[in-house]
Amino acid sequence: MLGFAQRYDARDVLVDMNLPIHFLMCAPDYFDVDYAINPWMIGNIHHSSRDLAIQQWQCLHQLLSKSANIEMMVPQPDWPDMVFTANAGLVVDKTVVLSRFLHPERQGEEFFYRQWFIDQGYTLHDLPKDLPFEGAGDALLDREGRWLWAGYGFRSELDAHPYLADWLDVEVLSLRLMDERFYHLDTCFCPLINGYLLYYPPAFDAYSNRLISQRIPESKRIVVSEPDAVNFACNAINIENIVILNPISSDLKAKLCTVGFEVVETPLTEFIKAGGAAKCLTLRLTEPIQVKLNPQAAIESQTILLEGHLLDSGLLNRVLDLIVAGGGSFQVLEFDLGEQRQSISTAQVKVSAPSREIMNKIMSQAIALGAIQPPQEICDVTLEAVIQEGVAPKNFYVTTIYPTEVRVNGEWVRVQGQRMDAVIIVSATENNPVATCSLLRDLKVGDHVVVDTAGIRTIRKSTLREQRGTADEFSFMGAGVSSERRVELVVEQIAWELRQIRDRSGKVAVVAGPVVIHTGGGEHLSWLIRQGYVQALLGGNAIAVHDIEQALLGTSLGIDMQQGVSVHGGHRHHMKAINVIRGCGSIANAVEQGVLTTGVMYECIQRKVPFCLAGSIRDDGPLPDTQMDLIEAQQEYKQLIDHADLILMLSSMLHSIGVGNMTPAGVKLVCVDINPAVVTKLSDRGSIESVGVVTDVGLFLSLLIQQLRALDQR
Ligand code: ARG
Repeated sequence: MLGFAQRYDARDVLVDMNLPIHFLMCAPDYFDVDYAINPWMIGNIHHSSRDLAIQQWQCLHQLLSKSANIEMMVPQPDWPDMVFTANAGLVVDKTVVLSRFLHPERQGEEFFYRQWFIDQGYTLHDLPKDLPFEGAGDALLDREGRWLWAGYGFRSELDAHPYLADWLDVEVLSLRLMDERFYHLDTCFCPLINGYLLYYPPAFDAYSNRLISQRIPESKRIVVSEPDAVNFACNAINIENIVILNPISSDLKAKLCTVGFEVVETPLTEFIKAGGAAKCLTLRLTEPIQVKLNPQAAIESQTILLEGHLLDSGLLNRVLDLIVAGGGSFQVLEFDLGEQRQSISTAQVKVSAPSREIMNKIMSQAIALGAIQPPQEICDVTLEAVIQEGVAPKNFYVTTIYPTEVRVNGEWVRVQGQRMDAVIIVSATENNPVATCSLLRDLKVGDHVVVDTAGIRTIRKSTLREQRGTADEFSFMGAGVSSERRVELVVEQIAWELRQIRDRSGKVAVVAGPVVIHTGGGEHLSWLIRQGYVQALLGGNAIAVHDIEQALLGTSLGIDMQQGVSVHGGHRHHMKAINVIRGCGSIANAVEQGVLTTGVMYECIQRKVPFCLAGSIRDDGPLPDTQMDLIEAQQEYKQLIDHADLILMLSSMLHSIGVGNMTPAGVKLVCVDINPAVVTKLSDRGSIESVGVVTDVGLFLSLLIQQLRALDQR
């Protein structure tokens, strides 16, 4: 049995409740808005009144003195923000972690704070140079001392958090700030006694909000509205049940009163012009600290190695950006810049993230860009067994289109069947490890799935800026979207490529939507099939329906394809077409019986070009050939595109994206659509082999066959 006395021994309860609470303040003798280092200061330079500031500060001081002991710092003429003593450092017991200001505008204050803490006999901790941390402005103890909430994103660095955990012997929970107006944690977050929390949730990212809700039950979370938040309602001082702050809405006041707080409002407008209010103007010197349950920060760190033309290709930037955008932070441990244009650069970067989940997310993206583990840290992949059919272990690695290798028993093994959005399973056949991409639904109990990101690398070609675009004949457009004037040029190159593939008996798969038929491209696609340029056709029910409608009735969705006008009663034509084919039993039968004698589907049957029509919820009919079992259809698609050299995607967002997901890097993709969004989505695979063309697909096909015919004549 653990008695009360044992749990709270003298060492653990550092605050004797009989001793008064202590705060540190600094009079606003030199306070002014002299510069702008936060959005509040912009437009307020020299717009605050010193007299009013002094008056407001004195009111606050007076209020506080009723319930606490106030210690004073001597203000300094050159440091107008020194009134904000919350930023002096973070104090726990007689220990202080001194601030390292991000902005030079405030760095000069550090000297005076340090002196003050030395004079008072504190134990000092200094963070490494260039690791910013702005004290109690960005680190708030739970009011029962159970843990420390620490903010990062604007002024303090995530990498400072493990130091806090270590020096102060406390669990640190990292919260990422997302809204510039709330650049310090204490501007949007205020732990209160009895486990309550006053805060403004939109100031944080989703992960942080989740962490907050895990620690603070809903009944204890007092959510502040935006109007209150911008009045610094969260920048409150809490002493027992008293909450001292800048005036707030009656709503919020009522909320606080209902749960037992006494709200004391005192105007602090002049300080808000500098981006601070009640809490910022004070530093609490007596903080409650409880039993140390988990004295650590959940922060994970990992080192990655980058190699290649890091600056020329923009790779280093991209990796550093994705780390920060993903909620992590980095430290460049080593950077060796190649001297000549052709030389390779290398960089070792330490990545930190507030949790394993976020670390995995960041690392997967970095791996996809070619980041590897440094030699000293290389290890095998982590495998975890499937325990429920069709369900992967929680932290499974999600694949990309890039050729991937995993390290098993000290050897790098190439992953088979590369595609995106799959999991990697590793199996062993007589000491020979095999790694394969598997879909979630295909996972069997006992399969060994790769989890986290250790021991995984992708093979990326490193390109020099000027080499991009000449690496092979297809990269003429780079990875990009061509429109307008460039279309003709692009078509010429695609024609050339198609011709080469046909000449070497390669494989071209075409993914097509019904728009091909509506825009008059049917005859061109038929020609391509007839001439042997197409080895597989993928689409939905609709392309076949409208192609057959045109073959049988001369219309596409009821529009006369010769005249371009709608035919009376034509909107039912496609149903007639479906009915005819259903009567024949299949498209092939219709061809055999002489019912279907022209068009795209007819050519496929005649030329023995395999096709798959994947069904969907909106299909009419469907045609007997349409595969309504979508898992089957995905498998058929996959087989049809296997070993394709080039995939031509013609105006079908649904089927093109489906195909894109199955296709590994290295397969050339040409995506044609009138909607730039579709084209961008598909050609933005980060590989130079994909190309987008924004244009009318009928026009594109007509240009394409013109070019191919021209090649024939040469
Ligand atoms: N002008 C000061 C700055 O931008 C305001 C500091 C407010 N302090 C705080 N703990 N939020 O640094």
